Amino acid sequence: MKPSLSVKVGGLKLRNPTILAAGVLGVTGKLLTSVAMSGAGAVTTKSIGPEPRDGYENPTVVRVRCGLLNAMGLPNPGIKEFRKELEDVKKTVNIPVIASVFGFSPEDFSDVAAVMRDAGADAIELNVSCPHVEAVGRQIGQNPDLVSKTVKKVKDQVDLGVFTKLSPNVTDIVEIARAAEKAGTDAIVAINTVRGMKIDIKTSRPILSARIGGLSGAAIRPIAVRSVYEISKAVQVPVIGCGGIQCWEDAVEFLLAGASAIEIGTAIMDEGLEVFNKVVDGIESYLAQKRISEVSDIVGRAHSY
Ligand code: SIN
Repeated sequence: MKPSLSVKVGGLKLRNPTILAAGVLGVTGKLLTSVAMSGAGAVTTKSIGPEPRDGYENPTVVRVRCGLLNAMGLPNPGIKEFRKELEDVKKTVNIPVIASVFGFSPEDFSDVAAVMRDAGADAIELNVSCPHVEAVGRQIGQNPDLVSKTVKKVKDQVDLGVFTKLSPNVTDIVEIARAAEKAGTDAIVAINTVRGMKIDIKTSRPILSARIGGLSGAAIRPIAVRSVYEISKAVQVPVIGCGGIQCWEDAVEFLLAGASAIEIGTAIMDEGLEVFNKVVDGIESYLAQKRISEVSDIVGRAHSY
C-alpha cells in the first residue's frame, strides 16, 4: 500500500508536506499557480506589507559557494495591489495559499493579514525575521515581547491559522518560539535566512547594496535542522522546517528532527520546479521501504535518541 503523505499543520490539510517558501516565485498569481501545478502541498506568497516598497538598489542577490545571499529590502506592491493577485490565484489553485505578511508594528501586521484573509488566504505567515530591514526583522523578531504582541494582534484580527517565521539571528530561538506559542501562534516556521556578507576583493567593497544580507541554501541546513529539533522539543504547536532543503533526503532529515512540513526556496534556482515532485517521490519511497504508512509517523523520530 502507498504511504499517506498528507499532513495537518496549523489548521491546514496538505496533500504532501512540501510548501513553497516565501519570497521565491510568490510575487504574482501566475507564478504561484505554476508552483501549485508542480506538486507542492501549499504555496506561500512573497512577503507583503502595508504600502508599496521599491526595496534596495541592485545588487540585491549574490551567489556564494555554499548558497545564496540576498538583501532585497522587502520590495512588494503593497497589500492594496497584491490583493488582486491573491484573489486570482485562489480562483485557480486547489491547494492552500499561505500569505506572508510583514509590517513595522503589530497593527501593520494585523491590517495586512485582514486584507489577505478577505482575499482568500488560507493561513497567514508572519515574517518577523527579515535579517536586514531594521524595524521588521531585527526589532520585532529578536524581541520576544514584540513577537508576542504581533502574534496576539493578528490572532485577534483574523480567524485563520497564523504561522510565525523565526530568525536564526538571535541568541535563543527557543525563547522566541515559546513567546510566539504563548501568544497563540498555530505553527512555527524555522528558519529565515542567516545574516551574512560578501566582499569583492578587487574593489574592497561589499557586493550587496545593503552590505549585509541573508544567507540561504545548503550552508544553513544544519542550523535549520538544529533549530527545528530544539524548537519542536520545546513547543506543542507544529514546526515547519525551512533552510537549505534541496532533495528528499534533506526533507526527511527535517521531518525526523521534528518538522511537520517543510518549505523549499533556494533549491528551485538549481533544480527548477521539479524539485517538489522529486522530494515528494523520494519521501514516499523512503516510507514504503521502511513500511511506514503515514509521513506523520516519522515526525520527531530523532528525539528519542
Ligand atoms: C528581503 O526582501 O530582503 C528578504 C526578506 C526576508 O528575508 O525576510
